[in-house]
Amino acid sequence: MPILTGSARLAGIIGWPVSHSRSPRLHGFWLERHKIDGAYVPLPIRPADMPTAVRGLMQAGFAGANVTIPNKMAAFEACDTVDETARKAGAVNTLVFKDGKISGSNTDGHGFLANLRAHGVDPAAGPALLLGAGGSARAVVPVLQDLGVQVTVANRTRAKADDLARELPGLRVVDWDRRSDALGDHALLVNTTSLGMHGQNPVEIDLSRAAKGLAVCDIVYVPLETPLLAAARAHGLRCVEGLGMLLHQAVPGFKAWFGFEPVVDDDLRRFVASDLL
Ligand code: ATR
Repeated sequence: MPILTGSARLAGIIGWPVSHSRSPRLHGFWLERHKIDGAYVPLPIRPADMPTAVRGLMQAGFAGANVTIPNKMAAFEACDTVDETARKAGAVNTLVFKDGKISGSNTDGHGFLANLRAHGVDPAAGPALLLGAGGSARAVVPVLQDLGVQVTVANRTRAKADDLARELPGLRVVDWDRRSDALGDHALLVNTTSLGMHGQNPVEIDLSRAAKGLAVCDIVYVPLETPLLAAARAHGLRCVEGLGMLLHQAVPGFKAWFGFEPVVDDDLRRFVASDLL
């Protein structure tokens, strides 16, 4: 931890609980690498306390904060203004405090796209099939649609996918049981469910039915190589791991708070990955 001056910039990660978050480690790496006079700290805040706590952080001189589960919706409500990314996702993961105003955005979609591109995958190569209709899907669907991609969602609870399709016109829905049938028509498969996470069941899908050249992206990053990605690799499909999304979603916030646009590289990836399990 560097020695701070009286004009150090302050930011942090809001969550409840927040102790599992890798964001302090991630931002700390950049702060140290660039010898920035600033700190990024864990901020355990109950969702119900968000309106008071967020304004309090601003009043205490913080430059802003990231927000993680389960506070992203409460963060949306606590903002004075939200941008298009937050509105479409219905959630805020990045807060910036400026001139006494709280502004919110959602950089998860940006992180998702940047991660695909960093792996040499064109997100707009063809139709995308998403597994899941939760908070992560909500962030991913709009950025794909903005690129003109036809997106299909399969979710265990069909009603949740139908709700999402009402909010995001153009979104197609297929039954969870038909996800393998749908594979052949898609260029990109994205797991946005919690399946495959350490201690959970793996995603079950028949990758032998995939179109040639399918890219498979998992937003789960613990473990780094999920059973889905291992299966995709065994089928000779292109794989995109989820850690990169976490790393890339952090860039816009860091730039806004600390005035420097950091890069995502292998040193950062190794540093954050070394502490995953
Ligand atoms: P997040 O914000 O990470 O997306 P979430 O909003 O809780 O988290 O969403 C979790 C997603 O994983 C949902 O799409 C959920 O499906 P349901 O809507 O049917 O609950 C999906 N999911 C979780 N466990 C699952 C399981 N065992 N089988 C299939 N889908 C599962």
